[in-house]
This record gives sequence, C-alpha cells and structure tokens, in this order.
Amino acid sequence: MNLLNDGVLVSPVTMRAIDDTPRPKMTDRYAVIGNPISHSKSPLIHALFATQTGQDIAYEAIEAPLDGFFDTIIRLHCAGYKGCNVTVPFKFDAYESASELSERALSAQAVNTLKFSEDGIAGDNTDGAGLVRDIEQNCGVQLRGKRVLLMGAGGASCGVVLPLLTAGATLTIANRTAQKAVDLADKFLEFRIRGGSYDELAGAQFDVIINATSAGLTDSEVPLPAGIFAANALAYDMMYGRETPFMKFAREQGATVADGLGMLVEQAAEAFYIWRGVRPLTAPVITQFRL
Ligand code: ATR
Repeated sequence: MNLLNDGVLVSPVTMRAIDDTPRPKMTDRYAVIGNPISHSKSPLIHALFATQTGQDIAYEAIEAPLDGFFDTIIRLHCAGYKGCNVTVPFKFDAYESASELSERALSAQAVNTLKFSEDGIAGDNTDGAGLVRDIEQNCGVQLRGKRVLLMGAGGASCGVVLPLLTAGATLTIANRTAQKAVDLADKFLEFRIRGGSYDELAGAQFDVIINATSAGLTDSEVPLPAGIFAANALAYDMMYGRETPFMKFAREQGATVADGLGMLVEQAAEAFYIWRGVRPLTAPVITQFRL
C-alpha cells in the first residue's frame, strides 16, 4: 500500500508540530518514531555515527499518537525528511506504509527502517542483520553450522529468523504457545528449522540460545532445562540494561552471556548504511554506551 499515492491518509495533521519550514542548508533529516520514545538511544547513536563518518544529518525522536503513525509518516515525507526508524508499537504499521519492501522486511512482516524518496517509501528490517552481525562480529561466534535455539515467536523473533537461517544456523524455535513456534517455522521449510514447545527441548543441546521473549520485562523465568547449553555456548538476550533471569540461568550453566546493546547499535548501523551508503564503525559506539 502506498499511502502517498492512493490518497488514503492525506488530511492535514495537527497532532504534533513537525518542523516543515524549508531550510536553505541541506542537512538531511531523519527521525525515530515510537510510542513511548523518550527512552530511545537512537538519536545519540546516529549522532555518533554522523560525527564519525562526517555525514551532515539531523536525527530526532518523535512520539506519534497510537492512532497517528500514517499521518506522521506522510508529514515527515512531505517535509523533506529522508527516512526514519520505527520502533514499538509501529513496526507493522511501517510495513503497511511502505510502497516497496525488502526481502527481509517481507519475511519479518515488520519494518524498522523507512527510506523516503520521490518514488515513494522503501521499507526494510535491519533487526536480524543487526543481531547476526553482533553475534558474529562482536561476540565472535560464527553461525554457520551452529545449533541455534530461538526462544519466543512474537514480533522480535519474526524479524530475525531469515537472517539467522541465511547465516547458516540450524534453527529451533521454542515458544510458550507452541503452535506459534510451529507456524513460524513452517514459513521457512526450505531451511533446517523446527518449531515447538519448551518441553520438546529435553535432552537437546545448543551452541547459541537467543532470548527473544518479553519474559525479562517481568523478571519471569524461561522454562529451559539444565544442561541445554553445549560447551562454549553463547546465551544472547535481546534485552539490555538489566540482568534477566535468562542471563542469570545461562551464567549458572557456564554459558557466555551477551545482552542486546550490540544488536541495537548494529541495527542502527545497518539503517545508517541504507540511508547514507556509509557503514559506521560500531565498536566505539558500543563501548561508549557501556561506560
Ligand atoms: P515482541 O514483539 O517483543 O516479540 P510479542 O509479540 O508480544 O512481543 O511476543 C512476546 C513473546 O514472548 C511471545 O513469544 C511470548 O510467548 P507467547 O506467544 O506464548 O505469549 C513470549 N513470552 C512472554 N512472556 C513469557 C514468559 N513469561 N515465558 C515464556 N515466554 C514468554
């Protein structure tokens, strides 16, 4: 659906003041859109990328009303913004708003990066690429041939399945509601993948276990059996900024533990590359956030 061309949502918008006055200096403008958004680290990450690469951009955080995502996108496009990142709860709305979708966006059925041009709105999803890059480049674990367990079958999982598979992982998806894991795995039958319940994991071992559930938000345990980590395994939690029960369990089981900060920076770097054609160094930015 191309909202700019099909005239679905072109009424004037008043819910938020977006600076749409023409500017003589051609600083390219970008934004991250979410609700809530005040916590977002994206403006700082992109400011650091811009300084590092000498790119002349401005990047701001915009809180769109829960029913106002499409209006916000149209306003930004019309005001000359070059693109935006999209976060919770608008990634599916962003998917719907794009006139063109990348393969990874189609696979995820969610979009976190929009690029605006005269031709329309291109939608992409950089979450999976960010995860794979963080695991391989920053954690030093190559995924090809590895037994990977992905916990969860919600939005966070959907975005990373195809990139994990194309990186060569043999993937198992486990979910509290087992049928959702089965259904997600069934979309990728040409790959080595299976989906099911946590109970079915008894006796299995994995080289990499990724927590893509929201259980950590409520400090809930995830139902993993002892002994599930293979020797030298990596436990990766997409959350950052707190020790989740999954991280604690993984440490007790002898796994190496990583949080999702690297993924956050890597998915931003991938978006920056889509917009600017320049790939920033991520290590200094990750280091700065860890200080
Ligand atoms: P997100 O977009 O963050 O993935 P979501 O789509 O609501 O959010 O999905 C949350 C995921 O975390 C789901 O896989 C959910 O399992 P269900 O599909 O059974 O609901 C999982 N999840 C949430 N709380 C959990 C818990 N306490 N234990 C195990 N899995 C949990």
